[in-house]
Amino acid sequence: MKNKLIMAIALVMALVAGWTATTTTAQAATDDSLAQVQKSGKLVMGTSPDYPPYEFQATVHGKSQVVGMDVAVGKKIAKDLGVKLVVKSMSFDSLLVALQTGKVDMVISGMNPTPARRKNVDFTHTYYQGGYSIVINKSDKGIYKDKDSFVGKTIGAQTGSTMYTESKKQTSGTTVKGMTSVSDLILGLQSHKLQGVAMEKPSAQAYVANNKELAMIPSKFNLSASDTSASVAFAKGSTSLVAAANKSVDQIRKQNLVNKDYLPAAGKYLKTNTVNTSMLHYWKAFLKGIEYTLIITVCSVFFGFILGVLLSLARMAQGGVFATALRWLATAYVEFIRGTPMMVQVMFVYFGLGLIVNLPALTSGIIAISLNSGAYIAEYIRGGINSVDKGQTEAARSLGMTKGYTLRYVVLPQALKNIWPSLGNEFITLIKDSSIVSIIGVSELIFQSNIVRSDTYRGVAPIAVIMVLYFIMTFTASRILNHFERKMQHD
Ligand code: ARG
Repeated sequence: MKNKLIMAIALVMALVAGWTATTTTAQAATDDSLAQVQKSGKLVMGTSPDYPPYEFQATVHGKSQVVGMDVAVGKKIAKDLGVKLVVKSMSFDSLLVALQTGKVDMVISGMNPTPARRKNVDFTHTYYQGGYSIVINKSDKGIYKDKDSFVGKTIGAQTGSTMYTESKKQTSGTTVKGMTSVSDLILGLQSHKLQGVAMEKPSAQAYVANNKELAMIPSKFNLSASDTSASVAFAKGSTSLVAAANKSVDQIRKQNLVNKDYLPAAGKYLKTNTVNTSMLHYWKAFLKGIEYTLIITVCSVFFGFILGVLLSLARMAQGGVFATALRWLATAYVEFIRGTPMMVQVMFVYFGLGLIVNLPALTSGIIAISLNSGAYIAEYIRGGINSVDKGQTEAARSLGMTKGYTLRYVVLPQALKNIWPSLGNEFITLIKDSSIVSIIGVSELIFQSNIVRSDTYRGVAPIAVIMVLYFIMTFTASRILNHFERKMQHD
């Protein structure tokens, strides 16, 4: 039995691996990138809006949206192509994956066209020249002078960024801590977990201008030309699209549009940002987060339950080769899902399946969580069915009921009563764990709190707010579930 189980698991893994290999090689076709964008009428730009003045979240006419000089660059490229610009936010370290898997058409995110990145994506000419600085707490002014003053201390840099790689390479005796978002790094700085944060100079200036407790120092990093320039990235081989974008980029350079128009415009949004930072002001964002969190949870438990019933039945199938195969497959599935992190599954569905069918983030999130939840629910159901006394089935069968009828009308109703508490638990767990889909950019509660954090430059308050909101949701849900549980116990 053990050996067969291992074989079944190996088979599933081999299938997954084989499929991944075929889908990644299938990409290198002829270049119709420009024609495709023009046909769809829109150009999707991926960016990580935690980097003012390049890109950041701001409230414009009462609505939170991504603004900044990179968005202006994106708009110009889209306009020159005669299409509409669509901005998609995600974490900086997901951007290039999103580009390679076709989730976005281009990446503009203050990104340096390094040789390592050039291996995987194509870049346009440079549209802006940056350089590194280090942000510190103003109270530490005089203690730290440049990258070499942090011996025995910790500096932070965004994961996947060139600052992270260079800080690792060019400092010694300094701990370099990577975090997904620059807003988190600033928070780490303010709570003294970090003594410095490395980022591009214009961004450092923006953070310092927005926060009286921060200051900046020169980095003194040894940088190559590619490390100080920002370019637009396109999928490898999209020659026609890059050529078209280069025309816009060249104009931007020639007319000095970034310095003359885009940066001053971004600066204005930066100021409006500091007007109202009360959490109440953002109730709409939090409400939207709650809405998405609940949609994801309810859908996932619903589909997870259906999948769970099927899986548990498959796991208990008896007689014949077919039943045995079914049993092994279901067992392998359950083991595999329970043995891999949900976060990886979410990314796999979004980016991996995305190579075949381009699913929106919300759908991908619901699919991944349902698939995950199904495996757990299957086990609860199996346990529930097994806990129904054998005599019940025997009695029903001897009364002449068919197998299916017995299962449906005698066993399952009793089983449901037994598994109800576990199902309720699963629901409550998912309210909390669905937050994982924020990594693929679904606007659930955590995602919204990140937006509020970058919008207000306040780190702790939004976290406290969502903590309370999560508790209200789970507490209410558990009250409701308890009520039904008590009702079921009456008979
Ligand atoms: N220029 C750096 C890089 O290319 C960091 C860019 C960070 N951008 C952002 N939107 N957070 O790695």
